Amino acid sequence: MVIGIPKEILSGENRVAALPETVDKMAKGGLAVWVESHAGEASFISDADYEKVGARVVPDAASLLAQSEIVLKIQKPLMNEKEGRHEVDMMKEGAVLVSLLSPDVPLLQKLLSKKISAFALEWIPRITRAQRMDILSSMSSVAGYKAVLLGASAFGKFLPMMTTAAGTLPPAKVLIIGAGVAGLQAIATAKRLGAVVEAFDTRPAVKEQVKSLGAEFVELDLGHETTEDAGGYAKELSPEFYKKEKELIHQHVKGADMVITTALIPGKTAPVLITSDMVKDMKKGSVIVDLAVEQGGNCELSQAGQTVVEHGVTIVGTTNLPSSVPIHASQMFAKNLFNFLMLFCVNKEIKIDLNDEIIRGSLVTHRGEITHPKVKELYAKGGG
Ligand code: NAI
Repeated sequence: MVIGIPKEILSGENRVAALPETVDKMAKGGLAVWVESHAGEASFISDADYEKVGARVVPDAASLLAQSEIVLKIQKPLMNEKEGRHEVDMMKEGAVLVSLLSPDVPLLQKLLSKKISAFALEWIPRITRAQRMDILSSMSSVAGYKAVLLGASAFGKFLPMMTTAAGTLPPAKVLIIGAGVAGLQAIATAKRLGAVVEAFDTRPAVKEQVKSLGAEFVELDLGHETTEDAGGYAKELSPEFYKKEKELIHQHVKGADMVITTALIPGKTAPVLITSDMVKDMKKGSVIVDLAVEQGGNCELSQAGQTVVEHGVTIVGTTNLPSSVPIHASQMFAKNLFNFLMLFCVNKEIKIDLNDEIIRGSLVTHRGEITHPKVKELYAKGGG
């Protein structure tokens, strides 16, 4: 059985889906691993590093994809301009694809016509048994860390308190909105850099985690509203709640030097929590880093892929932050992905068990049919 690792083709993507370490484990398990030449280059892994652990390095994507029974990727399949063909069109009929997928109708049509079994890694359920495969959490940790560094370099002041020959400079005040995986990592990073950190989240359950990292938890009177669903995830709240929340955030952004927003409700567009008027009231020279920018943004003024200055405030909307820490992000991605592979590739055979909660939650298409209820709905509507 051939496992194929193509070179990522999305512009700016520096990660790779397998490391020499995971390739070694696959090879020792009797799997043939084919890696496209230069696939690891942007993560500082050479073709020779892969060859040393038994991989076969293939010069082009077309021959690799045509022979692979399982394809492991980071980004969803795209048009490969060099080959003049879409990645799915180059795949072997009936093969398995494992990658981030965010499926849309044209992609689904391609997957169905090739009878590809496609897994969307972003839909692996966040349950205890799947922790070793939780790519979304791994990548959010990277993003939370990097967000603080981006904010720090766009900020015209120091983060820590400095006692200098020119006097004492106070530490920066950082506000983190949303204390999930990315938010907690942002708190830890900002604390390490010496900032005074406060954080806010609609789930009171995170208060202890915030405090254990040395940050202040901003309290909001929740009234009678339950802010979590049965699975412990944030849920959409009433307009009255959001009004109260915005008033509270308004008070806190006025005094902040840096705001990092990570508020997310799974499957929904991001709640807008910082309006243009609030930005106007912020200190000149302060910074907002909006991690939710790809889901529409927590700040009204943020723009995906861009850094803009509005009312004297720098608003960072950089996307794909994990790719900017490619060595560690590839390590984390590849290890989680290997653990996921072991779930359905047993004794050199593909065994897709639809009764398994992790498989069911992430499998999108299988044997020419859509298996995921959410995707069936999307396909029926014909929308992306
Ligand atoms: P998560 O689900 O672990 O955390 C989100 C947190 O937001 C939860 O704790 C939730 O309770 C909180 N929240 C929801 N609504 C809120 C509200 N109205 N006010 C305050 N808090 C609220 O999600 P995770 O993994 O930490 O991701 C956070 C964001 O970062 C997502 O939008 C994700 O897409 C984004 N992200 C961005 C990357 C980039 O490169 N720009 C990379 C990775 C993640």
